[in-house]
Amino acid sequence: MTKAGNDPVSVSIENGVGLIGLDNPPVNALGAALRKGLSDAVAALNNDPAVRVIAVYGTGRCLSAGADIREFGKPPQEPRLSDVLDQIEASAKPVIAVVHGTTLGGGLELALACHARIGLPGAQLGLPEVTLGILPGAGGTQRLPRLIGLQEAVDIISSGCRVGTDEAAALGILDGTDTRSPREAALAAATGVARGGMPTRRTGQIVARIDPELIRQAIEKLQRKRPALAAPIKAVEAIAHAEKPIAEGLKAERALFLELMDSPDRQGLIHAFDAERVARHFPETSATPRPVGQVGVIGGGTMGSGIATALLQAGIPVILVETAAERAEAARAAVAGNLDNAVRRGKVSATARDAQLAMLTVTADLEGLADVDMVIEAVYEDMAVKTGIFGRLDQICKPGAVLGTNTSYLDVNAIAAATSRPQDVIGLHFFSPAHVMRLLEVVVADKTAPEVVATALALAGRMKKVAVRSGVCDGFIGNRILAHYRKAADYMLLDGASFQQIDRALEDFGFAMGPFAVGDLAGLDIGWATRKRKAATRPAKERYVAVADRICERGWFGRKTGRGYYLYGDDKTREPNPEVAAMIEAERADKGITPRAFSDDEIVSRYMTAMISEAARVVKEGIALRPIDVDAVFLFGYGFPRHLGGPLNYADRIGAAALIERIETYAAEDAYYWQVPALLRELAHSGRSFADLNKE
Ligand code: 3HC
Repeated sequence: MTKAGNDPVSVSIENGVGLIGLDNPPVNALGAALRKGLSDAVAALNNDPAVRVIAVYGTGRCLSAGADIREFGKPPQEPRLSDVLDQIEASAKPVIAVVHGTTLGGGLELALACHARIGLPGAQLGLPEVTLGILPGAGGTQRLPRLIGLQEAVDIISSGCRVGTDEAAALGILDGTDTRSPREAALAAATGVARGGMPTRRTGQIVARIDPELIRQAIEKLQRKRPALAAPIKAVEAIAHAEKPIAEGLKAERALFLELMDSPDRQGLIHAFDAERVARHFPETSATPRPVGQVGVIGGGTMGSGIATALLQAGIPVILVETAAERAEAARAAVAGNLDNAVRRGKVSATARDAQLAMLTVTADLEGLADVDMVIEAVYEDMAVKTGIFGRLDQICKPGAVLGTNTSYLDVNAIAAATSRPQDVIGLHFFSPAHVMRLLEVVVADKTAPEVVATALALAGRMKKVAVRSGVCDGFIGNRILAHYRKAADYMLLDGASFQQIDRALEDFGFAMGPFAVGDLAGLDIGWATRKRKAATRPAKERYVAVADRICERGWFGRKTGRGYYLYGDDKTREPNPEVAAMIEAERADKGITPRAFSDDEIVSRYMTAMISEAARVVKEGIALRPIDVDAVFLFGYGFPRHLGGPLNYADRIGAAALIERIETYAAEDAYYWQVPALLRELAHSGRSFADLNKE
């Protein structure tokens, strides 16, 4: 075998088979060195008379997870992936691919350019490029429809979904399966080809039939469903070229690929991909996590039962404490209902659901937590109640148990101080519904031990959550920033914009829901309770909008009561609540405000500028480790439009100087609310961006 040091490609010859092993950990990304190694290996094996058939396989986790994303946005390096794959397709000697693990994007395109494909059990095949704002640019849009037909190729490419080994074989992506190791399977398949026992063909020579009506309908559907995203539509446009000779189709694919490569969507979506991975780099990563077998969850409400569900789904046994005995059975039913939903959506089998439910114990007794390795308290937001519980946990729990609180605002230092072991106390802020939402804010208090932080991070990994480290402040990263920018929406409401216009403008911008519709969904009583809690400490200079209080005083808490800003019908439609418009007018009259018109652009500008301002303060104060951590919080916990990459990634598109100019303009009306954050001034002064801070 020839392979020098870190060489990402190994080549060996056995019984007339030239074996090319891809070896570029962790996921065999197709970076420049690998592409060159692969191209050289194919050329050399073609020239070697001892070789009759060539086979490509991956060492490690997969054949390849695709192009090296870290090369995007940088000057291209030769050889291009598409050229290497054309070289493989044109190879005089047959080339076989063995597909194992997550074989995605360029990794699958490599397999498609080979002359036959063998899959190993558990492989996941897909072309996820559209989720990164691009399209398969190394022949995927031309070769997949040739192999499996137009409709199936459109579905796979425009959704970015993955298919397993069996489905891939049924679709015709795979020509066979094998249970041996990737290298053994490669050798066996190539030997089979050499003996004439397995047919091979060049995918590019298969004729694809393109139905223009099917293409038109697919594009129309995408425009309806995801109008903000160009990539899936362009991908379908590329597929439409698949009935041309392969060289022409590849040329058309490349032109569309390059168009998308230059788009801001691509930058935003890859930033979002990175945010999920960068956020888990905590300073405490090197500490040794404590083992976590069983976890206690306190509180059987929506949050507690959601957290218990998420733990059970991660295979972790749970003792759920609901001290109100009459609610204990309701809590069990809520967990069972959540697990049932996963079966209905085809996520797990009924047998797996039964096994998960069997790991749940429900008790009314806090003493039942004596032996658990970790506790997650999820009772309502009341400091006295929480400190009372933590005082008791201190008496009950075994030494070394991690004591987590799911508070969303309260001071974790004060909660820790209720115990004799503040080093074991940590904030674990889940987002509702906790078994669905991916974000977990890990709130590190002053005395939290590094191994307790590492334990939380390891648990987040098992639960497939996106963990973001936060310092202690009112609302941590997400709710603190939300509390600030939410006021900007209320100020616009009072000054003349309607709540429907604000919601629609922000939905058009890319948010799944505008802030008033979100308030109705979450329950207006939640914000009301917080406002009452903070009323005594609200600065006199701060503008206050009382519309939401007036709505709550009528007993209207949003969707759960059928009324809030909107009226909700049985069919989940929403209509503006006319009585709210009357309340707004009354408050305007009371405060002597003459309403003025707002353009949609101004609404977005004010809302986003307010969000960015508070986010900059959160970074400056060290509450968030890096700007990208704020982006992760908003992408995975607050429905921020993914293609914009998060509030601080978006901020770089506007630029610090322009943001300061906006704030100074708005400050003419309200100099207390609109203050320029120090970090924005520093960035404008030094010419740096939030992206630069991520690299420091
Ligand atoms: N390029 C560069 N680095 C990659 C990568 C890629 N394509 N895929 C994964 N990585 C890196 C991750 O950033 C991570 O780095 P870190 O350890 O420094 O944080 C490391 O590999 C491990 O990845 P994960 O933590 O994500 O590991 P998982 O096991 O959770 O997931 C995966 C593995 C399913 C492969 C997931 O990483 C993934 O979805 N990767 C992206 C796949 C993809 O989108 N491929 C298409 C690329 S575009 C393309 O091929 C264009 C072509 O058409 C021309």
